[in-house]
Amino acid sequence: MLVSTLRTGLIWLLCLGIAIASWRFLWAGVEASMGHVAYHADLRPIAFYTHVILAPAALVLVPFQLWNGLRASKPGLHRLLGRVYGIAIVLSGLSGLWLALTTEAGAVAAWGFGLLAIAWLATTIRGIGLAMQGDRLAHRRWMIRSIALTLAAVSLRLQVFATLLLDLPFDTAYSAIAWLCWVPNLIAAELVLRRGTSLRLRTA
Ligand code: HEM
Repeated sequence: MLVSTLRTGLIWLLCLGIAIASWRFLWAGVEASMGHVAYHADLRPIAFYTHVILAPAALVLVPFQLWNGLRASKPGLHRLLGRVYGIAIVLSGLSGLWLALTTEAGAVAAWGFGLLAIAWLATTIRGIGLAMQGDRLAHRRWMIRSIALTLAAVSLRLQVFATLLLDLPFDTAYSAIAWLCWVPNLIAAELVLRRGTSLRLRTA
């Protein structure tokens, strides 16, 4: 009980905290708040601003969509927020793919972010499509994968923070982080899903 309350609190804190921190360019400016990617804002402003405005919106929605009580008591709101989550991801995923293809962080980072964008779009579109077909169990499984990938934004910032704290060479670490921010999340999601399946089989 205590562990699950702490886990829920941590998810709310990280998702809302990182989304709000990501929007700080709105009042602090791009150069001051995210100087290392400011070149995207100059060269491809539509892709950049679409991504940095809408991707944090998807992150904000994660704890609301995971909230069992809200899903049960207000299914209409869950469906509405699910559509907003889906639209935010389609637009910020496509623009994220464009940023990945044009990043100046090197080919390793470009492939890492690029495949993340494709996986993010694919899992989310599949998950929402299944909800529209009424397959709630499969919808839940694909949305867990989608959320694990949305949480790449959290992993990335924690890993960048650790890189700065440990004074590691930033460019090399950043290329690795483009993969480490999402591949372990996806593996963890698969393990959770397998454990869920085996528990259901055992209790069936
Ligand atoms: C999950 C799929 C995502 C992909 C593929 C992706 C891709 C990218 C790429 C390629 C960049 C530019 C990095 C560079 O060129 O060095 C970027 C920057 C950024 N992304 Fe995403 N992103 C994703 C999710 C998110 C989410 C969920 C958020 C929510 C907070 C987010 C917020 C940002 C922000 C604020 C930046 C500006 C740089 C920074 O603050 O680190 N992204 N993203």
